[in-house]
This record gives sequence, structure tokens and C-alpha cells, in this order.
Amino acid sequence: MPLVTPKEMFQKAYAGGYATGAFNVNNMEIIQGIMAAGQEERSPLILQVSAGARKYAQQIYIIKLMEAAMALTDLPVVLHLDHGQNFEICKEVIDGGFTSVMIDGSHLPFEENIAETKKVVEYAHSKGVWVEAELGRLAGVEDEVSSEESIYTDPDQAAEFVGKTGCDSLAIAIGTSHGAYKFKGEAKLDFERLEKVGKLLPGFPIVLHGASSVPQEFVAMANQYGGQVGGARGVPEDLLRKAASMAVCKINIDTDIRLAMTATIRKHFTEHPADFDPRQYLGPAREAVKNMVRHKIRNVLGCSGKA
Ligand code: G3H
Ligand code: 13P
Ligand code: ZN
Repeated sequence: MPLVTPKEMFQKAYAGGYATGAFNVNNMEIIQGIMAAGQEERSPLILQVSAGARKYAQQIYIIKLMEAAMALTDLPVVLHLDHGQNFEICKEVIDGGFTSVMIDGSHLPFEENIAETKKVVEYAHSKGVWVEAELGRLAGVEDEVSSEESIYTDPDQAAEFVGKTGCDSLAIAIGTSHGAYKFKGEAKLDFERLEKVGKLLPGFPIVLHGASSVPQEFVAMANQYGGQVGGARGVPEDLLRKAASMAVCKINIDTDIRLAMTATIRKHFTEHPADFDPRQYLGPAREAVKNMVRHKIRNVLGCSGKA
């Protein structure tokens, strides 16, 4: 199967009141775990690559691994650039075969964000590639950019932004944040804001970043086996389900993959201190990714059986 753009995936997700998961990938085991979960659940998939992942793995390795994955599946799969910082990186991945890019101008002033996004849209659309943009700012750490405070997206500005840039989907800030420590007090999302965006942009796919739920079983497991991730908290699953039933068509998940792998590897090392073959611990880590992603697809995103 060739890679696809998210167009049809999002149309179906919007109409069906569910979301597609966008899972961050850094290596072979993560790709295999996600692909196996999608296969078992018959789910569409988005695999996304950050600038950090590109630096770590090299773009060509990711592309060749994805070629292998696509040779072995009949699922619709998108290869997406996560948090593209500028036009140049977007162009490089488009030229390399990605079917979707994010241009993240959320740190820029409004007019500059529009200008940079528009430039990416023009190039991407000439190659048949999808463009996700971002307006508003999430708190938390992402690559080289970290923000203490979130700035929630203004719905009127979102509508103006989409009209002026011609982007295909938009990431908005309604209370989620990147990383494993999302909420100190009560966990809540600004659904009124999301609803308003949905009304101003009917049928337009919205993206939720920072949407890991930080499963407490992995936090407990990591801590039990020598980790120090006390107090890690994510977005409650019922809030994600509600967002997915609204205009949100893409839900980004990275932290949960990291936690699932790391907790599993910690446990393995404690229980099998004599092991030193990487396959002995990467195998169970890959299985943990698969099971976690299956759970998301089935119980959180609602995209099981939608391939
Ligand atoms: O939004 C950030 C993603 O979790 C990617 O993280 O830049 O450390 O690969 P990374
Ligand atoms: P999490 O840190 O909540 O997994 O968010 C990932 C993300 O938004 C990637 O772009
Ligand atoms: Zn993100």
C-alpha cells in the first residue's frame, strides 16, 4: 500500500465522531508496535516524526522502515512531520516522501505565522501533501521550544487564520500540554472554545497535541522498578473521547509510548538482571507499545474497524 494523506481519514472521522491517533516514532520497534496494533484493530494510522526523531534516526532510516511497514499492510497510513519549525524542514520531508506536514508557527506573531504557513501550503499542495498548522500555544516542552504558560487559541483568529493560509487542519490550545506532567489541579479542557471553533469552521479537522493520558499503570511500574516519574498525569481518557466526538480528528500521542517502553524495560532489567541481548528487552517493549496503542484505538479514539 502507498502512504496516503489524511484527507479521507479525517472526513470519515469528522462524520463518525471519532479521531485518528497520531503516534510519534523514533525507531523500528515503535513503528512495528504501532503497525501491529493498527493491523489487529483494523484502524487507520498516522505515524509522525519530530525534528528530534529525524535527527536521532535519520530521515532515510524512517522512510525505509515505513516502506517496509507499507509492504506488509493494507491499512491507510499517513507519514507526518510533527512540529516542523520552518519552510525548509517541511520541504525536505515533502521531497523525501512524507504525505503530511505540520508547520508550527505558533511561537511567531500572528501575521508571521500566517506568512510562513502560507508558504508551506503553496509548496505542499503543489505536491499533493497535507498541511497542519498551529495557532495558540501549549505549555510544556517540545524539542527546543518550551513554554511555561499556555495561550489558548482564539476561535475568531482561528477562522481568520485558516481562511488566510489555506491550511488543511489546525492544532489548537484548549488546555492540553506536552510531556508527562500536564495537570497540577483538576484536569480540564476548554470544550466551549472547541465548540466555538467547530461552529466557525464547520467540517474542518482540528488537532489535539499533548494528548497522552499518561496511564497510571506505567507510571507505577516505572516507579516500582527504579524510575522517578512520580506525579506524572495526563489528559483523562473521557475528556479525549469527548474531544474526539467533536471537531478533533487527530490526537497526538508520544509520552504514553515512551512510558510504556521505559516501564517495561525497567521491569525486565529488574526481573532478568543477567539479560544483555537487546532483543530480550526491546521485544517486550514493542509488545507494550502495541497493547497500549490497541487500547487507545479501541477505547479512546474510537477508530477501531475504521480502516
Ligand atoms: O511534541 C513533541 C513530541 O513529543 C516530540 O518530542 O521533539 O522530543 O521528539 P521530541
Ligand atoms: P504528548 O506529550 O502528550 O504525548 O504529546 C505529543 C505531541 O503532541 C506530539 O506532537
Ligand atoms: Zn505536539
